[in-house]
Amino acid sequence: MGLKVAIAGGGASHTPGIILTLLNHKEFPVDEIRLYDNDSVQNDDMYLIVKTILAKKKLDVVLIKTEDPAVAFSGIDYIFSQLRVGKMQMREKDEKIPLAHDVVGQETCGLGGFAYGLRSMKGFVELIGYVQQYAPNAWVLNYTNPESIIAECVRRAYPKAKIINACDMTIAIEELLCKSFGYNRDNWVPVYYGLNHFGWYHSIYDIELKRDVMPEIIQKMQTQGVNTEGMEPSWAHTYNNMCMITKHFPNNIPNNYLQYYLYPNRMVAESDKNYTRANEIMDGRLKTIKEAVRAIKAGDPDAADGFASTEHGKYIVDIAASILHNKNDRFMLIVPNKGAIPNLRQDAVVEVPCHVNATGAEPISLRFDIPDFHKGIMEAQVAAEKMLVDAFFEQSYQKAFEAFALNQTIPNADVAKTVLDELLVANKDFWVNLH
Ligand code: G6P
Ligand code: MN
Repeated sequence: MGLKVAIAGGGASHTPGIILTLLNHKEFPVDEIRLYDNDSVQNDDMYLIVKTILAKKKLDVVLIKTEDPAVAFSGIDYIFSQLRVGKMQMREKDEKIPLAHDVVGQETCGLGGFAYGLRSMKGFVELIGYVQQYAPNAWVLNYTNPESIIAECVRRAYPKAKIINACDMTIAIEELLCKSFGYNRDNWVPVYYGLNHFGWYHSIYDIELKRDVMPEIIQKMQTQGVNTEGMEPSWAHTYNNMCMITKHFPNNIPNNYLQYYLYPNRMVAESDKNYTRANEIMDGRLKTIKEAVRAIKAGDPDAADGFASTEHGKYIVDIAASILHNKNDRFMLIVPNKGAIPNLRQDAVVEVPCHVNATGAEPISLRFDIPDFHKGIMEAQVAAEKMLVDAFFEQSYQKAFEAFALNQTIPNADVAKTVLDELLVANKDFWVNLH
């Protein structure tokens, strides 16, 4: 018998890629998929696309769409969560409001990430509450952003929840490095540490080559750069910046998102304050979906052919398969530190290699101390994120303000307050009341 899988945030644009991956995966038999979303229009669109894909492939999978958590989760085995509270319209504000004040405006980093965090925590805690009510034994595989904040929040609200928090960024970086320089990721044992979207590689042992390949890769990043062929310009720019960082900080391969914390000045200068990533996505993949829906409704089922299985989807299904078959495969996951990074505060939520089996994620201790440079900026980031989570639970304006002021993309408390107050107005329908 197959598994029952729910996608929370089913109306999102990544859904077809995830479902195609699910259906192609050899170790994860699925016979029912439920799309759960509070936006019935987007969910209807996604239902139509997925239904068409299933019919064309003649796959016998039950497909349900619903706005009712009882229908979505009762009897479910796995929940893949990709909520985006406030959708692209609010992402646009997260990006543009800080930028208007000459500070980083980004989906998960800087004050935009904190604004999104305050929205996301509210929606996500509600979701996990429903899961506890209707499917307490189901596993939640979460990639709802901003993930460090979400992970910290959920462990406070539901410490026993069966949840794995995962981000595809390290996989995407590794795939890119392999494609650029001719390595095979299946042979790699990477050691990476940090917070989500805020970390570094320590080493990448290659079992075929029998050596740590990170030093030679850093040299190639510095001299040749990575292969950005076929990428959207904004992602190409990001990966070029990742290479630039290795010139200034040559000891480690950084997570690309560190560009926002190490070079906020450049990121602001290079941004178009009137046209941000949210605009690119609304004009790009969201339009593609609307066009596909229109064509299918007009009688052209082939319009569903353009969607493909994605790396993003594969990662999450591989994790689910490792739980299901107790495989102990290794992934970078977002977990309570508890000694994994020995010299970082124990109550931080960190991203480190973990084995995944039927009991969930088992973090692998680094067994070395991280350098003070990394430790220092991580500690500040952890403290800021924790204060934001405090602000959410305590409904404290003061805590939110301190979190904003501590954010390392922010030069002074004046700008922190100005941006907080503007974001507060923009988010009045989404944030808890702060007083
Ligand atoms: C990566 C990150 C995600 C992030 C996404 C943004 O996949 O790991 O956390 O949401 O990039 O991509 P986008 O195409 O939406 O800008
Ligand atoms: Mn991510």
